[in-house]
Amino acid sequence: MVRRFAANTAFTGYWGAPALPLGHRQALRQHRREHGAPACQNGNMKTHHAPASIPETITPSVSPERAHAIAASFDLRALPADFLANPYPAYAALRETEPVRRMPDGSYFLTRYADLVAVYRDAQTFSSDKHVEFAPKYNVAPFGSDTAPSPLFEHHTTSLVFNDPPLHTRVRRLIMGALTRRAIADMEPGLIQLVDSLLDDLAARGGGDLIEDFASAIPVEIIGNLLDVPHADRDPLRAWSLAILGALEPVVTPEQHALGNQSVTEMLDYLRTLVARRRQSPGDPERDVLTRLIQGEASGEQLSEVELLQNCIFLLNAGHETTTNLIGNGLILLQEFPAARERLLGELRTAADAAAQEPILTLAVDEFLRFESSNQLGNRRALVATTVGGVDLPAGALVTLCIGAANRDPAQFPDPETLDLGRTPNKHLAFGFGIHQCAGLSLARLEGRVAIGRFLQRFPDYRLSEAPVRGGRARFRGFLAAPFSVR
Ligand code: HEM
Repeated sequence: MVRRFAANTAFTGYWGAPALPLGHRQALRQHRREHGAPACQNGNMKTHHAPASIPETITPSVSPERAHAIAASFDLRALPADFLANPYPAYAALRETEPVRRMPDGSYFLTRYADLVAVYRDAQTFSSDKHVEFAPKYNVAPFGSDTAPSPLFEHHTTSLVFNDPPLHTRVRRLIMGALTRRAIADMEPGLIQLVDSLLDDLAARGGGDLIEDFASAIPVEIIGNLLDVPHADRDPLRAWSLAILGALEPVVTPEQHALGNQSVTEMLDYLRTLVARRRQSPGDPERDVLTRLIQGEASGEQLSEVELLQNCIFLLNAGHETTTNLIGNGLILLQEFPAARERLLGELRTAADAAAQEPILTLAVDEFLRFESSNQLGNRRALVATTVGGVDLPAGALVTLCIGAANRDPAQFPDPETLDLGRTPNKHLAFGFGIHQCAGLSLARLEGRVAIGRFLQRFPDYRLSEAPVRGGRARFRGFLAAPFSVR
């Protein structure tokens, strides 16, 4: 069943839930104080037209001198204010001058495509286990200690993405068993219904906010369906997810720590009840990931209660912000690059039917993912001394994989700074690579294709009515708000 938004819910979540945790809401409020309120917040957008300058303000240009200055003193823990609006010139300067950069804290920042692939491929040397790295980050007073780990520490160090085999292999096998090609194809009709209902609402209002009213409303439902979370329980999911993943940023404030820990605790409390209910009345393990995780494998291998709960949290979180950002970034990129938008619209118009449109949209979605990767950074730890890109790394070296930089590496992608919506081949790393490659990539691609495709079909003349507000995060790249009118 699909429910609708109330008309004036520009910055509250789906079904009226507070959609943004404190940090995001504060960021948005501060932005409004400095730049004025987005024009859509009081409803009808029909009379509001975008000033011609908006596309230029989306990604401000950076001079080569400035890019080289940022690269020369590059430190992920002390990023200059102008970096996040457009990190790509600094990434390019790093790739050219110091592709394996040793940062002040002794960790390494990698920007070349070939180096990222080499690290992703070698999971024996490069561990995903985060116990060592996260202990000083999360087990700090007053949230946790060596003897009493914080909720954030327990969560992140138990989820499959931050573990090595064998835990990783066990959990992944169970999840993949419920994400078969057929199971994902079966989700399409419900997804189309959800998207169309959101579009009806936006059409009635003449516009709205691309992020709050559209992009973020889709993944929360799809992931909720995946674990069969009752609709009435879904309100807090997005805020929990943003707070828990927000605590992965390179620098975390005490407020973000507190919110992240509180969110893990609340989510665990909720999931304990959900799991108990599902144990009593199991769903279809071919469709329902939660039932599958509870029942374990036919071989008898099962997850412990802690592993089960923490990996449910991870699953519920993994597909939220990333997919919101894919849809939001894609629709905003089409505003920033009108020629690419016109070409795409032309191709979609001349395609005979929905089946002919599908491959066009599939290529476009992958190019959005390459050009503005929702997840910009990955992390690994070298278990033994090794060499990457000609640089010797000591045993224990922490490595940050810059997906955003690798996806614009000219050694891999011809003309990488051009948004080429028909690009093929396009072996981008937005979903990572190797044993931890995103388990939800087919679902994310489906969501991107249906959401962006149906939006364009319905509102080919949509226009941003304000410069969109960026999320201001290094790891997850996307927007907080993007008011638009349908014209
Ligand atoms: C555009 C949307 C998405 C992007 C860009 C994305 C990106 C990623 C990346 C980069 C990784 C690898 C992390 C690493 O190697 O350290 C990953 C892992 C993962 N993602 Fe996604 N993701 C997206 C959507 C989803 C969705 C919808 C789901 C839910 C079904 C999901 C579930 C997972 C899981 C379970 C893992 C862990 C896989 C493992 O460790 O084996 N993701 N994702």
